[in-house]
Amino acid sequence: MRSFLAPLLLWSAGSLASFALNLYISEPDCKKPKVGVVYLTDVFGIQLAQNKLLADSFARAGFLVVAPDMFDGNPAPMDFTTPGFNATEFTLLHGPSATDPILAKAVAYLKTTGVEKIATTGYCYGGRYAFRLLAAGKGVDAGFAAHPSLLEDSEIMAITRPMSVAAAETDAMLVPARRSVIEAMLANTSQPYQVNLYGGTSHGFGVRANVSDPEQKFGKEAAFYQAVRWFNAWAGGAL
Ligand SMILES: *[C@@H]1O[C@H](CO)[C@@H](O)[C@H](O)[C@H]1NC(C)=O
Ligand SMILES: *[C@@H]1O[C@H](CO)[C@@H](O)[C@H](O)[C@H]1NC(C)=O
Ligand SMILES: *[C@@H]1O[C@H](CO)[C@@H](O)[C@H](O)[C@H]1NC(C)=O
Repeated sequence: MRSFLAPLLLWSAGSLASFALNLYISEPDCKKPKVGVVYLTDVFGIQLAQNKLLADSFARAGFLVVAPDMFDGNPAPMDFTTPGFNATEFTLLHGPSATDPILAKAVAYLKTTGVEKIATTGYCYGGRYAFRLLAAGKGVDAGFAAHPSLLEDSEIMAITRPMSVAAAETDAMLVPARRSVIEAMLANTSQPYQVNLYGGTSHGFGVRANVSDPEQKFGKEAAFYQAVRWFNAWAGGAL
């Protein structure tokens, strides 16, 4: 996975740091990064290697990346049928009342680093929260969401900053009819927006694409560059 980013300029290894919650931080090589990115994971959390690698990719593109541990060390297992795991309970436990304060801490941490602008990128479960971070007063300048799940109408209509969305062809959590509604609502927000559909992809491709499949590989890479271009255009650019 890393190899497709090799042409990009900068990168340094991510590190785990503590700020009242665990953050995965990935720093670019440049001395004073101008733009921070809050990276919001899928239900597999910062514990999933592919989430850390993708966060590192944003750092290589010049952003200072902070990914909060949204599940306090207990992400969902890869296999939802794992005994003891209850998806309904997991969703209830990690709703907005538990998650919003975690995200606010991640934003607050980024502000202490001296970045001038803050963007957010979110995947599946985290995609919904990328929208929530664009509501008034959250301190985030632009957002990107790949295949967001559980996204509510009010959360779309509440955005006050530009939003870009990457959608999968096959996604039970975001079917074509729902995608059309999201497009119409984004148009109604009067914010700059973008919705891209990637053929041959399925839910999760922004992080967990099967890169042996050329269409999925293209979709994952293109969705990454979509986010980078969006942040360069609407959050002041990284470099
Ligand atoms: C899963 O959690 C929900 C909500 O707490 C509960 O209603 C349900 O009975 C649980 N299912 C199982 C199989 O334990
Ligand atoms: C967008 O706004 C128009 C005009 O207010 C309204 O009629 C329409 O229902 C809105 N669309 C959605 C999807 O909310
Ligand atoms: C990944 O894609 C390749 C090429 O299409 C396919 O042969 C392989 O079975 C796929 N792997 C999984 C786990 O789906």
